[in-house]
Amino acid sequence: MRTPLIAGNWKMNCTLAEARELALAVVEAAKGLNDREVLLAPPFTALSATAKELAGESVILAGQNVAWEEKGAFTGEISPAMLKDVGAMAAIIGHSERRQIFGESEAMINARLRAALQAGLMGIFCIGESLEIREKGQADVEAWLKKQMEEGLRGVSAAAARRLVIAYEPIWAIGTGKTASQEQAQQAHAYLRLLLANMYDKSLAEEARIVYGGSVNPSNIDELMSQPDIDGALVGGAALDKEQFARIIQFQAAN
Ligand code: 13P
Repeated sequence: MRTPLIAGNWKMNCTLAEARELALAVVEAAKGLNDREVLLAPPFTALSATAKELAGESVILAGQNVAWEEKGAFTGEISPAMLKDVGAMAAIIGHSERRQIFGESEAMINARLRAALQAGLMGIFCIGESLEIREKGQADVEAWLKKQMEEGLRGVSAAAARRLVIAYEPIWAIGTGKTASQEQAQQAHAYLRLLLANMYDKSLAEEARIVYGGSVNPSNIDELMSQPDIDGALVGGAALDKEQFARIIQFQAAN
């Protein structure tokens, strides 16, 4: 059985005071929900303040990115050891904003993912197609996802892949209010699970969590979570609103 994971990606938002307040509200909302995991990814500046609010609680702390080197002259980067030192157990890697706005290549993302998993962090590996590819049809979407999976997971051993979470985030659905339909998301997730089975093995594919991201909100979370291959959500905008995020983590799947 896969434990559902609801993750809040705060992106470049939250002062320390805002981060503390939001983290506290999430801790309250997550109390007693033992059948799911909740994760928060604040900006680097708010990791420490958020960690203090999460101390002794089950909510997981994550970085929004991570470097592939341990330490040294890498201005602007944060290493896996630094994330662990501040209390983070996970890192988001390959977010489409990193790829599109900051030009991160498949090779960089692969190096980040390998380093994170190697260090024992949960690696939340983001992939997803553009609107242009989506409009070309399902075969093109699948070819794109296959390429991203193969390049991103190059050299990742089966043992390391057990700490992997795949986040399917179609670029056209991020921050646009356009969610993939539950059928579109389910179809992509089922395909990603098939790829994992081919790249690793069936049991790893069955155990791996594949979460959906892109305009997740209180009114679509229940139906998304009712799909057999959707194991959670990576939430942007709605994760910044305590009431909305509380409702999202309290999702009720129909099955
Ligand atoms: P939105 O939920 O704002 O669409 O963002 C999704 C996302 O990019 C999460 O990483």
